[in-house]
Amino acid sequence: MTAACFADLGHRVVVRDIQPERIRLLQSGEIPFFEPGLGDLISKNKDRLTFTLDVQEAVSGAEVVYVCVDTPPMASGDADLSRVWAVIDALKDATHLAAVVVKSTVPVGTGERVRAALDGAGLSHVGYAANPEFTAEGKAVADFLGPDRVVVGTADAATAALVRELHEGVDGPVEVMDVPSAEMVKLASNALLATKISFINEIATVCEATGADIEEVAKAIGMDHRLGPHFLKAGLGYGGSCFPKDSRALSALASNSGYPFQLLNAVIQVNELQPRRAIQRLKSVLGTFKGSRIALLGLTFKPGTDDMREAPSGIIAARLLAEGAQVRCWDPLARLADVEPWASTTRHSSPMEAVTGADAVIVVTEWPEVKAIDWAAAGSVMRRAVCFDGRNLLDPQELAAAGFTYMGVGRATQTPA
Ligand code: UDX
Repeated sequence: MTAACFADLGHRVVVRDIQPERIRLLQSGEIPFFEPGLGDLISKNKDRLTFTLDVQEAVSGAEVVYVCVDTPPMASGDADLSRVWAVIDALKDATHLAAVVVKSTVPVGTGERVRAALDGAGLSHVGYAANPEFTAEGKAVADFLGPDRVVVGTADAATAALVRELHEGVDGPVEVMDVPSAEMVKLASNALLATKISFINEIATVCEATGADIEEVAKAIGMDHRLGPHFLKAGLGYGGSCFPKDSRALSALASNSGYPFQLLNAVIQVNELQPRRAIQRLKSVLGTFKGSRIALLGLTFKPGTDDMREAPSGIIAARLLAEGAQVRCWDPLARLADVEPWASTTRHSSPMEAVTGADAVIVVTEWPEVKAIDWAAAGSVMRRAVCFDGRNLLDPQELAAAGFTYMGVGRATQTPA
């Protein structure tokens, strides 16, 4: 994505990946994952884009190297930087480079260690910058080309000017700062967004106990310009490749310096509880899950993506199976590995097929197809018309009128009209 966007800005870009299948697909004009607009951007800029498995081929003619590898969490919660170091090691002879730029999300302090490693390899004349990624899946191209801000962390003015120049044509301000601050902006931004989500999910729980309606509450909170309307949607919690990983990484980073980041730890804990609470609440209506059939509508961590990383659906399916339910799944894009819990579930080609014979349906991801369901028809093919709306996607009154017992997150339960 970074490569395609830089090519679109007029730069020549060589993409190197270690996975042969990915490179083969990209060379043949295909995208190895779902991202709207990316395929078009790659084909529009194909003359400026090449793909290779060979790191030296990628580096030899380059002026700038962008490091965009993943930094998955280790068992300790710390980020695994081995892929970053593998790239840095491969640059030992790249004395012709003007700069190395790290886009990967890394713990604060990594850039200073990379700088020392470059200096140790005789590359002190090569600039270094941190240039974190703030794009959201499903709108990554638009986020890159029209960002709220571009953050550049570097210790030298020449590198700052070079990275700024690379972004010429991007519609957004460039903020230059020191390297540790740039690294922190990424982790802190994601942690604050995660905090907003867990906060509204906690308010939703209090709404359930007190009779307030989270949708009314969140809407009016968001009208305060100091708070803003975004990331105040109550639901089954956040998932994806960034929020869960980055919040744990920031917590681990704080713990490593002897400081327990209690607020962030609570944010993480609330998020982990959210799908489990949903299962408990549904159980209180059904009595037991033993022998029941439950339909999950939507599996991906959000709509508009095929990404299953840290999706709450995994916890929900596993809990239901553990309680003795059969789990029937529908999702328009999710690609499920043949591992548990998915191996023990059934996959259906339409929402209607998934709900047929079910004792309850759980809306896990707010896909438009779920909103468009004819709920009266769905209720008539279910064994029991019970809906747990994990994303507050549906109109509670409409569901009650269609004969459903309806439960949402932070809203009053409706009984059939
Ligand atoms: C996020 C950040 O938005 C992006 O800036 C960063 O670079 C990567 O992480 P992404 O993971 O693609 O992007 O998803 P996003 O749209 O932000 O949603 C993350 C999760 O939060 C989803 O599971 C979503 O369902 C959940 N969410 C979001 C809520 O539960 N409530 C909200 O109000 C907003």
